[in-house]
This record gives sequence, C-alpha cells and structure tokens, in this order.
Amino acid sequence: MILSADRISKSFAKGSETVTVFENLSLEVHAGDLITIIGPSGAGKSTLLNILGTLDSPDSGSVSIRGERTDSLEDADLANLRNTSLGFVFQFHHLLPEFTALENVLIPAEINRRQDSSQQKALELLDFVGLTDRKNHYPSELSGGERSRVAVLRALINDPDIVFADEPTGNLDAENAQKLMDLIQQLNRDRNQAFLIATHNADVADIGTRKLVLKDRSLTESGIL
Ligand SMILES: Nc1ncnc2c1ncn2[C@@H]1O[C@H](COP(=O)(O)OP(=O)(O)OP(=O)(O)O)[C@@H](O)[C@H]1O
Ligand SMILES: [Mg+2]
Repeated sequence: MILSADRISKSFAKGSETVTVFENLSLEVHAGDLITIIGPSGAGKSTLLNILGTLDSPDSGSVSIRGERTDSLEDADLANLRNTSLGFVFQFHHLLPEFTALENVLIPAEINRRQDSSQQKALELLDFVGLTDRKNHYPSELSGGERSRVAVLRALINDPDIVFADEPTGNLDAENAQKLMDLIQQLNRDRNQAFLIATHNADVADIGTRKLVLKDRSLTESGIL
C-alpha cells in the first residue's frame, strides 16, 4: 500500500458559517492503481487531493504514506517526502515560463539534488512523449497539449510512488485531452505508475481502473457513470 487516508474530515469556516467538505472519508491507494474521482464543482475534489498530497491537513483523521503518518513528520521531512514520493499535475500546469521544456521537467530533480542521472531520464521521458525536438522550447513556444505533457513528465522525474492530477485535462481541447489520457494510461500500464485523478469530466473518470465519486461529503465506488 502506498497511501491510506483514515476517516479524514475537513471543514472551512467562512464568516459565521462552516462548510463541511467531507466527513470520515477513508481511502487506500496501492501500487499500480489508476484511481479517478469524479464529482460536481465544489464537491471537494481539490481539497481532497491537497490533503492526500500533504499540501493541506485534515481537521481529524490521518493520512499515511508508505505506512508513516504524515502528521507526525516535521515540515522539512514532509517536504522531502512530498518531493521524493509524490508527483503533482495541476489544471493550469504551472510550467515556469523562463525555463525550457527540459529544464521544467528537471525542476523537481534539482530540488531533490539528483541532477546527474535525471538529465538522461528527462531526455528519455521527453522522447517517450514525442517531444525531443521541443526540449529547448520555452512554455510560450509550446502548444497547450505539449505543455500538459511536459507537466506530466515533471511529475514523474523523481519516480514518485503516486502522481496526483487535479483536472489535468481542464484547459485542453478534446484531442489533446485524449492524448493526455492515453499517456496516463500508458504510464500506468507500462510503468505500473499509480495515479489519483480528480475530474468533473466523465470521459476522464472512465479511464480509472478504480472509479470513485465524491458527493454529499463522502467517497463511494461508482457504478455505471
Ligand atoms: N480555503 C477555503 N476557504 C473556504 N472555503 C473553501 C476553501 N477552499 C475550498 N473551499 C470550499 O470547499 C468546497 C470544496 O472546494 P474544492 O475546491 O475542493 O471543490 P472541487 O470539487 O475541487 O470543485 P471544482 O470542480 O470546481 O474544482 C467548496 O464549497 C469551496 O467553496
Ligand atoms: Mg477543484
């Protein structure tokens, strides 16, 4: 098991009101899982991914990664765990504009001081997604679909146990969204890479080998979508 969430709850206070996003939610992620979480806007998908990805904390309950409770870690150890074991792909991809495609892929490796072997790996990954001849392009010189592939590679450079993707196809057209989903499925199959993907798009949710629905403050296995 890579990650487990045990009865986590989260609320936000807004003025005098309290919004409970979810309550007593539990989840286990195993190696090779391709989990999709679908839910309407405001259901709490981003909140859940942020908590599972240790970017935010639950009000109660606990998150464990490789059996270690994340609430028992010091900030520096948590940052290290996040950088070495977790990968993130965001809706707007957040590539750094002043760095090339290759340099963007390498950023997490440099934070992790693993540049030596990483350069070769970054080049292999760029080749894997057909971007070798774009490696020296800046984000402004890449198409939206190309940027999204670079963002996925950046999430993979440190060999994370799990990649979190929050609405990864959100700003892509149908064709590029399909290519990104194909890439995620291929990485999941060929490299046994675990993914946890949040989306409100049923086509994206459909690629999951395990499909979950976040609604009414809880997470359930989906039947037929
Ligand atoms: N920092 C915050 N302070 C107060 N309320 C928040 C905060 N972050 C999120 N919320 C509220 O929590 C709920 C869940 O938000 P969240 O962003 O997780 O939803 P989502 O499922 O990702 O939606 P979308 O599909 O639109 O991205 C929403 O009602 C939102 O308004
Ligand atoms: Mg969201």
